[in-house]
Amino acid sequence: MANNKDTKRYLMEKNPEEAERLALAQEIIVDYMGKPVWAPIDFSKPGLKILDSATASGVWLQDLERTLPSESNNTYIGTDLTPMFFPEKRSPAITLSIQNIKEPWPEDWMNIFDLVHQRAALPAVGNRGSPKVISDLIGLAKPGGWIQFVEPDHSVVEGPADRAFFYLLEEIFATMDSDTDIAPRIEGWFQEAGLQSVGCKIFDVPLGAKNPKKEMQAKSAKFYALGGNGVVQVAKNSPVSFSPEALENLVSDLQEEMSSKGGVLRLYCVWGQKPSV
Ligand SMILES: C[S@@+](CC[C@H](N)C(=O)[O-])C[C@H]1O[C@@H](n2cnc3c(N)ncnc32)[C@H](O)[C@@H]1O
Repeated sequence: MANNKDTKRYLMEKNPEEAERLALAQEIIVDYMGKPVWAPIDFSKPGLKILDSATASGVWLQDLERTLPSESNNTYIGTDLTPMFFPEKRSPAITLSIQNIKEPWPEDWMNIFDLVHQRAALPAVGNRGSPKVISDLIGLAKPGGWIQFVEPDHSVVEGPADRAFFYLLEEIFATMDSDTDIAPRIEGWFQEAGLQSVGCKIFDVPLGAKNPKKEMQAKSAKFYALGGNGVVQVAKNSPVSFSPEALENLVSDLQEEMSSKGGVLRLYCVWGQKPSV
């Protein structure tokens, strides 16, 4: 049986609806978080350099760029292992390039960024690889610059279908030598790496029927179903304990649970400041 240890590939890259899933995620997450950046960076300063690592379609950067005044003259850079989600149409202020977070970053990017952001990418390196990825990203921030990570805690589930989905995810992550308990550890890793003013906010994003906004109910249910389906497709070619029938039922069970009871996506948003020299 195949496994998912190929480190040059992204788990969900074969999901034909991945770009749509990520766009929905951006909408429901920022709607609930209220703002994309909780690190107390001063956005009134012009000429900020902002990096979004593991950016995929760059949707987080695009949103941020849209909300900040164009005369701020900021630089927005997004990087990813694969360019397959890079959009053809994007603001000229945004540059996208290929970069594996496990490999060295360009020398001339050291100490230059005011904000380094990464969301939903640490499972690619697991608990063992995360401290090194974090320390490399801190290397890119300028002294006094900020780092912000956002990662989901998939262990927080409400209904039986979501619990079954979590068990499946645990098995898939194990085939990647990864872990599902990464998010609660980030704050400690930031402190160990010497960041200052470390802060953490937990957001329980309401999904499906639980979301008080009608529009977000449909979008969040669809987001979760697309994710469930993407993971099930990966599972079909992975050494997991779920029978083909159980896998087949999982997506419809998830959809039913989201529209009847709803669910929750727990996100950890963690930030810290690189000490000034
Ligand atoms: C779940 S998506 C999140 C994308 C984006 N940060 C967002 O929140 O919309 C994970 C992204 O991490 C990227 N990725 C996975 N492993 C990576 C690696 N080793 N280096 C850089 N990017 C990686 C994938 O290609 C994918 O685009």
